[in-house]
This record gives sequence, structure tokens and C-alpha cells, in this order.
Amino acid sequence: MKNRLEKNYIEPSLNCARKRTKDETEYSKFEFAVEELGIGRGKTYLLKTFGCQANLSDSEKIRGILNALDFTETEEEKEADLILLNTCAVRKTAEDRAFGEIGRIKSLKKTNHNLIIGMCGCMPQEEATINTLKAKHPEIDLIFGTHNINHLPQYLKRIFKNKEKVLEVFSVEGDVVEGMPKVRDHKIKAWVDIMYGCDEFCTYCIVPYTRGKERSRRKEDILNEINALVKAGYKEVTLLGQNVNAYHDGDFGFGDLLEAIAQTKIPRIRFTTSHPRDLDLRTIEVMGKYDNIMPHLHLPVQSGSNAVLKKMNRKYTREIYLEKVTKLREHVPGISLTTDIIVAFPSETEEDYLETLSLVKEADFEGAYTFIFSKREGTPAFKYESNILEEEAKERLYKLNEEINKGFLKGNKRFENKVVKVLVDSFSDKDEDKLSGYTEHNKLVNFNGDESLIGKIVEVKITKAYTWHLKGELKE
Ligand code: SAH
Ligand code: SF4
Ligand code: F3S
Repeated sequence: MKNRLEKNYIEPSLNCARKRTKDETEYSKFEFAVEELGIGRGKTYLLKTFGCQANLSDSEKIRGILNALDFTETEEEKEADLILLNTCAVRKTAEDRAFGEIGRIKSLKKTNHNLIIGMCGCMPQEEATINTLKAKHPEIDLIFGTHNINHLPQYLKRIFKNKEKVLEVFSVEGDVVEGMPKVRDHKIKAWVDIMYGCDEFCTYCIVPYTRGKERSRRKEDILNEINALVKAGYKEVTLLGQNVNAYHDGDFGFGDLLEAIAQTKIPRIRFTTSHPRDLDLRTIEVMGKYDNIMPHLHLPVQSGSNAVLKKMNRKYTREIYLEKVTKLREHVPGISLTTDIIVAFPSETEEDYLETLSLVKEADFEGAYTFIFSKREGTPAFKYESNILEEEAKERLYKLNEEINKGFLKGNKRFENKVVKVLVDSFSDKDEDKLSGYTEHNKLVNFNGDESLIGKIVEVKITKAYTWHLKGELKE
């Protein structure tokens, strides 16, 4: 199905986005056109990123493109010639925040008449967003989606040279574009996309519509990227995908990829997100075999009730989930497990909810992102009837968080008086005299040390565990 074409605008259609075909993924290579070069000379931009790691990674590409076109990044809204919001649509609160930002930012146009305001990421992939932007925020000059970041140079040319407005969102399935420049957020830790999109269609989730069909990068491209990162001194990679376990390049699956990456010289490997149904024994075995694959896994369970899991279309049961947890603990002793949980999904009874609480205890999670169900237009659950009151939903979330926080503290406590390896990130946000970094189990540690340690993996003795972090001393 083609996108609708209207007044030079290409608009999203969730209906088109829902379609999946067996068409082969197309692979292409990103290139700038000569006439686009230098468009940003003398101009500044400010990029704000919301949402998950997929957006963080996309923002690194957007920054890469803008810098290559000679734009200069600024932190000052008042100075910026271009303010671009890379948005998230996963819950209503995320969208409200972005609309709030737009409302605020557009007032800057009163004093800076040349300011260009743009929105990209997951929100523009929804018709409802486009309708709201058109009706309430006509001041927006640039709108594009998740499938056409590679067209950004040409959009900027249309805006800055031809003085056009651009609205172009594709709802087609999406290809794989290699070779986009990236300006990375960190000097020692890197996001590496391994697959895009999602074909799971959990009934509550907008992501399969905003990110298109599941498609994997070629293994050579991923390995080349990681080898280049090793050469540049990077210490950690996080492999990214909405369902990394669905990765495949022909018969070469995620376990194979993980093993090939473990055999490079990268000191630390993490990956997110894993779908419990697709997490296979091969992957678990590889995790247990290599020391540079970190002993932490984020494995979203969403609910502990089989009835709710079924309505969510998660395609596993509580029992299957817990079996995988057992296998993980068998192969990776001491592994730290974290999760995502949604409460108050339509039809969730008190008994269903209690099953979630009991699963949290059984699985021994050491942290979780917890959410109240949020209705997303276009998803099946949008139409599900719910008689759970808001107060009740909040109460469920509150009690769940209490349980999760106990697990968080317990997970941290097990490292008291132990020596752990910490990859030093920077000085701590909270206490500028202290360095901070993450352990292999993904625990935040603050300790005294000097600047020269930033970027290194050091041994730290843990002196005290708190719910959200560990305190330690550098081992002499
Ligand atoms: N692909 C990942 C992440 C998806 S979005 C995964 O499958 O785990 C991150 C989390 O947001 C999800 O795990 C889920 O817990 C939550 N989420 C997604 N849609 C939601 C909705 N409509 N309401 C509330 N939480 C939602
Ligand atoms: Fe959403 Fe489910 Fe896909 Fe995760 S696996 S992105 S929750 S549809
Ligand atoms: Fe949000 Fe899009 Fe990620 S909806 S969670 S930014 S894939």
C-alpha cells in the first residue's frame, strides 16, 4: 500500500504500517549529494532525544548528518537555528511531554523568526500526532519519521535553501541503510544497532507500527563496526534491537552473532531487548561461555499472569519464562536480571496482579521499569474494555515498585565487601568529587578516584549498598 500524497506532504498511515510482507529487505549505502554539502555553515542546532536506546542511536546518526553538513551543535535554545525533537510514542506521558516541549519551543519563534522547529522519531509515525501538529502547532517546519533519517540532508536543503516546509513520513516496511555518519554520545561505550523493527505485535504496543518490520543488519557490517570501535578504544558495546533474539542473517542467528562479537577484542558486551519467547538455549550457552558478555540481562516479562500474557500476545507463559530464568542462572551463575512490567492491563484482575507480584519474587529481579497500561491508538488493546480505576492502577504500581525496590537493594547488597570491576564513565552527577561507573552486573558505583581513570576498567571494593547505587573504594 502506498502512502497518501497530499500537497507535497507524505503522511503516515498506521494501517499501512500494520502490513507485513515477505519482501526481501533492501540494503543500501548512505551518501551525501554534492549540493547538500555545507548547508549548515554558520548555523547551529539543538537536538533533544526522548524514548529508548533506538532513539538514542538514531540521534547519533542525526547528529552525524548535521555535523557533516557543517551545522554546529548548541545547548542554548535561544541560539539555535534548528531545534529538533526526536520523540517517543510508547505511552501517552511520553507524547504529552513532547507536545509540551513543542508548545514551549514555538514561542521562541517570536524573537527568532528564522528558527526552524522539527519533530522526528516515533510520534510522527502516527496519524493522530500529525493531525494535532497541523491543527495546534502549524509552526513546525520539519517532520520526518523513523524510516527516513537518511533523507535528512535533502529535507534540510529544501528548508534552508528553498524555504519549503517538509512533512515526510513513510509507513512502508523499512530497509537497512548502512554507512550513516554517527557522532556518538560516549567515547568508551557505544550503541550498535543489529536489527530494526518488530514483528511481535504485543497487543498494547505501538512500536511495530512506528518502527516497521523486523529486519537485521548483515553480520559483516556489524562486525566491521565493532572492530572499528575496538580500534578507537571503545570498552563496551550494547547491541540494540526491539527483539534482538529475532536477529538473523540467513541461518546466522543471534547466538552466532553474540559469539562472533565475543571473539573480537571488545572488553564488554551487552544487548537489549530480549523477548523471552525467542531467547534460546544457544544464546544462553554463549552468554555463559565468554567473560566479555556481561552477566546482566534485561528480560521484559510484562505480567506474571498467563491470562494477561495471552491477552498481551506475548506468546509465552509464566512457566516458560521462569524456566528460562532457571537456565540463565544455571549457565551464568550470579547473573543479574531486570525486567519491564505493565500493571492494569485491561482485564487484569486482583488475582492476575498478585501473580505478577509472586513472579517478581520468584524471578529475583534486581530492578525493573514498571508502567501503568497506556492506551495507544491503532493497537488492538486500544479497544479493550477496562474497568480498572485510575486509583487502583496507581495503587498496583506503587505496591509493585515497593517489591521491585526490595529486589534492587537485595541485588546491590550481594556485592558488599566484594571487589568488582567498574568501567569508569565520568565524575558522578550527584557528587562531583566522586567517579562513577557500572559493574559487570550493571550496578552503578560511586568511588573516589582521579580523572585519569575515566574510560578504564578498574577494581573497586564495595563498602556500602544502597537501593539505587553502590559506594566503594578503589582497590590499591
Ligand atoms: N522491545 C522492547 C521494548 C518495548 S517498549 C521489549 O519488547 O521489551 C518498552 C516497554 O514499554 C515495554 O517492555 C513495556 O513494558 C512498556 N510498554 C509498551 N507499550 C506500553 C503501553 N501501551 N502502556 C504501558 N507500557 C507500555
Ligand atoms: Fe513492543 Fe512487544 Fe515488539 Fe517489544 S516485542 S517492541 S513490547 S511489540
Ligand atoms: Fe519509544 Fe519508539 Fe523507542 S515509541 S520506546 S522511541 S521505539
